[in-house]
Amino acid sequence: MNASAALQSARALAVERVEHLSEADLAELAEATDAAIIEGGGFGWVEPQGRAALVRHFRGALLVPERELFVARLDGHPVGSAQLVRPPRNNEAQAFSATLTHAYIAPYARGVGLARMLVQRVEERAAALGHRVLNLDVRETQRTAIALFESLGYVHWGTHPFYARVKGQTVAGRFYYKTLEPGRGRSTGALMDGAC
Ligand SMILES: CC(C)(COP(=O)(O)OP(=O)(O)OC[C@H]1O[C@@H](n2cnc3c(N)ncnc32)[C@H](O)[C@@H]1OP(=O)(O)O)[C@@H](O)C(=O)NCCC(=O)NCCS
Repeated sequence: MNASAALQSARALAVERVEHLSEADLAELAEATDAAIIEGGGFGWVEPQGRAALVRHFRGALLVPERELFVARLDGHPVGSAQLVRPPRNNEAQAFSATLTHAYIAPYARGVGLARMLVQRVEERAAALGHRVLNLDVRETQRTAIALFESLGYVHWGTHPFYARVKGQTVAGRFYYKTLEPGRGRSTGALMDGAC
């Protein structure tokens, strides 16, 4: 057993789709989010937001019909999250696809496999909801995330040279998609036919 596997087996890892969060969970999730932002994060925000603003964000996310929130827990404590964003009802033409966004794990909970679990859980949910493509985009500076997404079969289809502004610097962004097997969340490797 390697070191990562040994650590993983000693800790309780979990990812759940949440519809409600307790005050204690919201506070811990806000703390995890600010820790990720401070470390250089990925979660859109560049500056730490503080508990009140982040709690408002998560409460709001839980109210949006097209948005689902997934929380990663380490030994029962929220340490990261991701969101699945589905197309609005008026976008029939793109109803087959969905977007994975705002994925991060707090620095103090990294390296034990939670992000991989989080992304796979979102894929399974997207596939179960009938989506056949999962899209995502990421700053090209997020090297760990890029390695993770590529190892999970995401296909890099384009790079936006003016994707984000971080601390006065323009950062490019990489755009990815993955085709999902109906109901399973595994890649088919082939584009869907007209039946989706
Ligand atoms: C990317 C991120 C989510 C990974 O979280 P994590 O929980 O540490 O990831 P995991 O433990 O599930 O590891 C995933 C893979 O990345 C690898 N990895 C983890 N940390 C690494 C590091 N510092 N350097 C290189 N590889 C690393 C692991 O080896 C693992 O690969 P494996 O399953 O083949 O062994 C986390 O680093 C993060 O939150 N980064 C900032 C936010 C971000 O970039 N979000 C994505 C864009 S929205």
